[in-house]
Amino acid sequence: AEYTQEINQFVAQSHEDVEAFRLKYLVTKGAVRNLFEAFKSVSPDQKRVLGKSLNDLKQTAEQKYKILQAQFSSGMEARKRDEDDLTLPGEGFVVGSRHPLSLVRKEIVEIFKKLGFSVAEGPEIEDDWHNFTALNFPPEHPARDMQDTFFIKKQDGNDIALRTHTSSVQVRMMENGQPPFRAIMPGRVYRNEAISARAHCFFHQVEGLYVDEDVSFADLKQTLYYFVQELFGEDTKVRFRPSYFPFTEPSAEMDISCTICKGKGCALCKGTGWVEILGCGMVDPNVLENCGIDASKYSGFAFGMGIERITNLKYEIKDLRLFSENDVRFLSQFETEL
Ligand code: PHE
Repeated sequence: AEYTQEINQFVAQSHEDVEAFRLKYLVTKGAVRNLFEAFKSVSPDQKRVLGKSLNDLKQTAEQKYKILQAQFSSGMEARKRDEDDLTLPGEGFVVGSRHPLSLVRKEIVEIFKKLGFSVAEGPEIEDDWHNFTALNFPPEHPARDMQDTFFIKKQDGNDIALRTHTSSVQVRMMENGQPPFRAIMPGRVYRNEAISARAHCFFHQVEGLYVDEDVSFADLKQTLYYFVQELFGEDTKVRFRPSYFPFTEPSAEMDISCTICKGKGCALCKGTGWVEILGCGMVDPNVLENCGIDASKYSGFAFGMGIERITNLKYEIKDLRLFSENDVRFLSQFETEL
């Protein structure tokens, strides 16, 4: 009993104390062993009583030793670290790099910022009104098939879907205020397409909207011309081809002189000297009215481009899938920014 108390109260200050504990109680000639030796010579009656308390004592001592050891092993390691050679060169660490799509998105935002455009964002899960109907896609209109849509469910008879373009953010913006509006809408969009080098089920867009009094097609052309020259260099040429979108009238697609061959003709532009980079047009008065804006007073232009396409041109990337595969060999080639 005396030993049990002593063991339980034992406090070690150092590794040496732990060792002293071991020598006192646990070695062959230690206190506990000695008791076991003495135990051999007592009478059988006493043995029954003493045997149990002896075993208990042995266990208590062993357990206490384990606890003490754990307490001081970390102390041991600390001492070992002190002995490390601090003059050796340290181990370097790897710094990640910006994703190319983030780099290009940032560049696009910076350019439009200089023209006074702010940045607007909206939800990726949209209802039919914001993605289609308000944008002048009547129900059952074949133009809805222009964008293969991932429908999620119906709510009160209306479709809920992953947005197919960030034009939905334009609708939200116009519904929530009055002109002037001057903003760009970067974001991820989804289309139900088979994944290949040239198409993916999601990609990123920057759309833009400018609505005010007396906004003209000339404003649209000059804005986009400035943008392209800032992004691709001053010798970049542009051309507009007539096109169709339900939400703009007139509509156009804009090509730039091929960034690789500078318009001379190469594999990228298939010998034409031109590559398409965006769709644009004057906001259809129906869209303005749908969003509560007086179309007799205001007019506007809108445009939309895919960030992947711009990035492909800037960095000569030929396979879209590289953007979402997280291959470090690809990603580490881009600028590092802390
Ligand atoms: N929303 C169109 C698309 O995703 C792009 C666009 C935006 C075209 C604005 C014209 C005007 O294809």
